[in-house]
Amino acid sequence: MNVLYGGRYRRRFERIAEVVGAEVDSVCELCFGDTIFAAWCRDREIAWTGIDLNPGFCARARSQGFRVLEGDVLEATLPRVDACVMIGSLYHFIDRLDALFDAVFASSCRFLVSEPVRNLSSRAGPVGWLARRSADPGDGRAMLRFDEPGLRSAFDEQAGRLGLCLEIHSVDRDLLAELSR
Ligand SMILES: C[S@@+](CC[C@H](N)C(=O)[O-])C[C@H]1O[C@@H](n2cnc3c(N)ncnc32)[C@H](O)[C@@H]1O
Repeated sequence: MNVLYGGRYRRRFERIAEVVGAEVDSVCELCFGDTIFAAWCRDREIAWTGIDLNPGFCARARSQGFRVLEGDVLEATLPRVDACVMIGSLYHFIDRLDALFDAVFASSCRFLVSEPVRNLSSRAGPVGWLARRSADPGDGRAMLRFDEPGLRSAFDEQAGRLGLCLEIHSVDRDLLAELSR
């Protein structure tokens, strides 16, 4: 992932940390994969829980002392937290957004999402192959991606359906949005 992001990999986590803010007490990171944001939380005494279905990622986070729920976000009971965050993983739920947003807003009043809108996965050649391979959990959804209009429209739909406020914080390769009650 770091290779694919050309050195901007960490920046996505730092950006979401800036928006979450150090004042929160608890955060749940959905599909965390990495522990960069978890470490940021620990440094600020913010209670972090991560959920991911990849056993290797979960074992690595546990070995670093982080609290992990191993399993599918849509089958887990999410902890009650000040904010849920999801980084680079919304496409896994592209056809299950209602279920995802229902689960998130049953456990929190804030949802911060950073999602790529200029995707390498659609490219031909080795870069596209690596992007698709690194993102594939084996359920076929790795081929589906958001572009910026599609993502904005998906957020508008969820905001309308659940009566949420929607704020777009920034757009470059990734769009960073906050939905809140
Ligand atoms: C593209 S990676 C992103 C990881 C990390 N957030 C990042 O930005 O580097 C997607 C992650 O979502 C996890 N994942 C995919 N579907 C999931 C699901 N239904 N429930 C929990 N985790 C899931 C994968 O195991 C993987 O760690």
